[in-house]
Amino acid sequence: MKKTIHDIPVEGKRVLVRVDYNVPIDESGHITDDARIRETIPTLQTLLNAGAALILMAHFGRPKGKVDDSMRLAPVSQKLQELLGRDIQTARDTVGLEATALSKAIGAGQVLLLENTRFEAGEETNDPILAEKLASFGDVYVNDAFGAAHRAHASTEGVARAMRAQGKPAVAGLLMARELEFLGQLLQDPPRPFVAILGGVKVSDKIGVIRNLEEVADEILIGGAMSYAFEKAQNREVGTSYFKSEDAPIAAELLQLFKNNEAVLPAQDACRLHLPKDFLVADKDAEDAHIEYVEAGAIPADKMGMDIGPKTIADYVAVIESAKTILWNGPMGRFEVAPFSKGTLEIARAVGRATQKGALTIIGGGDSAAAVKQMGLSEQMSHVSTGGGASLEFLEGQELPGVAVLDDKGS
Ligand code: 3PG
Repeated sequence: MKKTIHDIPVEGKRVLVRVDYNVPIDESGHITDDARIRETIPTLQTLLNAGAALILMAHFGRPKGKVDDSMRLAPVSQKLQELLGRDIQTARDTVGLEATALSKAIGAGQVLLLENTRFEAGEETNDPILAEKLASFGDVYVNDAFGAAHRAHASTEGVARAMRAQGKPAVAGLLMARELEFLGQLLQDPPRPFVAILGGVKVSDKIGVIRNLEEVADEILIGGAMSYAFEKAQNREVGTSYFKSEDAPIAAELLQLFKNNEAVLPAQDACRLHLPKDFLVADKDAEDAHIEYVEAGAIPADKMGMDIGPKTIADYVAVIESAKTILWNGPMGRFEVAPFSKGTLEIARAVGRATQKGALTIIGGGDSAAAVKQMGLSEQMSHVSTGGGASLEFLEGQELPGVAVLDDKGS
């Protein structure tokens, strides 16, 4: 267990907080989903109420170590000001003269946001000189950036080591602690049956997760474009559906893994893999597409699979309704386009109903979080993760560098 902000004194301290404000914005620069900002408010408010001064570090986009005016943190700063209900001071640089001067001058109850950490070339290379400079700004380091915890960067990993070398604490924020608690429950003795619903585009992105969950979950339900790799692996026709040839051998390897385990393990211990029985297919990827339902193995050569079909929905909903723990990562189809959204919507509703019946329901970040938000169902889930890549790496069983480096309880 990692120490949190509740385990250390912060009154009168300058607290350096790493947050993940890498939020989606539209062409006019408006934030389209502020969840990552909103969810850090309890940490920031708790620290401010306890009499700390806050220096926030965040990255935005992938500017590759150079200043890029389109990736400044100004829109994020404005949104944070609104959500926190206080003035936010902003530095025009990350560790330059302005950031250094402002971080020295800041007082209790004040908040300073440093400019995009990825404007510094040393951020992604985890440069110790940059990490030390950042560490010199604060008396305490708090990592609340779960979404960036899989990156060993200067502001996520190096800085925590530099703080320790300077005899200062490095602890988890409340959002980070909550993510670790919910996602951790999935891998350590989850209430059973434990059902994992995995969708999305590529099997190769999820192979590590499937392999790791095969050992802890009872049922794995597959949907989304990755289904077509499993179809191909069984020599079935996928028409013009999204499919990358390198994904078929990965799917074949996974099919074999489940088959082998089912052959050797007692039925109650083997994890069952469910593949779609039918699909919704379309002539094109558009709102006005002509759609029809076909059985698995019978996708016409000139049609593309866009969603799971009604038999699959019924099958998956029944499995979901009997679950006590549910993880959902990746949509069931191209839900952003109305005619293809039914599978994802019905699965989201079923997961919501399972929460009401007392199941622990966790939505992985990224596309699945966006899907439940679009459908207005986020509040019906036990936990919606703010981490995309980070939650996947966590579920693969990997230790996240931004977490591993934090102080342990009892240390
Ligand atoms: C994310 O959006 O998943 C995190 O902020 C990490 O961003 P990155 O993939 O650019 O490192």
